Amino acid sequence: MLLVQFAALLLVKFSATIWVDWLIGLSYVKGFLLLQVGLSVLLSWLMGLPRWWLWVQAVLPLGLYWGATQTLVDPLWFALGALLLMLVFSAVLKDRVPLYLTNNITHQALVELAQTYQVKSMLDLGSGLGGVVRALAGAGIEAKGVEYSPVLAWFSQVWCRWSGLGQVSRGDMWQTDLSQVDMVYVFLSPVPMTRLWQKASAEMKSGALLVSNSFAIEDVEPLEVWELSDGRQTQLLIYQIP
Ligand SMILES: C[S@@+](CC[C@H](N)C(=O)[O-])C[C@H]1O[C@@H](n2cnc3c(N)ncnc32)[C@H](O)[C@@H]1O
Repeated sequence: MLLVQFAALLLVKFSATIWVDWLIGLSYVKGFLLLQVGLSVLLSWLMGLPRWWLWVQAVLPLGLYWGATQTLVDPLWFALGALLLMLVFSAVLKDRVPLYLTNNITHQALVELAQTYQVKSMLDLGSGLGGVVRALAGAGIEAKGVEYSPVLAWFSQVWCRWSGLGQVSRGDMWQTDLSQVDMVYVFLSPVPMTRLWQKASAEMKSGALLVSNSFAIEDVEPLEVWELSDGRQTQLLIYQIP
């Protein structure tokens, strides 16, 4: 997203003197802003990004302009907001994994899956807000999570302690030992799956399970695929360590 905004910014900068004169009645800044919005949306469309990104690209420069020009809110709040977003989404820069949460139907399916395979202990790598950890802990499974984002880790630690269910620690999944658990659950992105399989195969017990929500491991045949009847038609891909 930011790459598109920077590319649009460069184009705007080069063409500004020509175009802004042409945009009759608009101040330099408003003309600049209009071009930035238009070009960001156009570039995003040409790149084939999903439609909702076009809205994000349009709103971002408008929001920045509004934030910079209005005086009701101290600009410090915008800086704090940006810092908070960076802390929440820090794993996007590291592993290209954003935050989205496993839904309740999938929580129930994971409990059923754990019971079917007689899983006693599990680990959610990239545990987000800890929902999966609490759901499985609630079913009597020893459930733990590891989360890279300090804000999400802190939030889920508090939530787990408050509910008395499960445990989350702040850490990097690549530095986490997988040898002690019967099942590892992940809901990540296509990017880290091959590396994760190599790590899981090297560390996990033979017969243990790696369950991936939605993202397959290239060239590895899952033991089973559970298709859920939730709104997004979740697939749970169950891989067994050889
Ligand atoms: C799509 S969310 C899934 C959250 C949770 N597992 C769930 O299903 O509700 C992926 C999470 O992985 C975290 N993450 C990404 N890379 C990580 C890493 N290297 N170590 C630990 N957590 C990571 C992200 O911060 C994000 O919270």
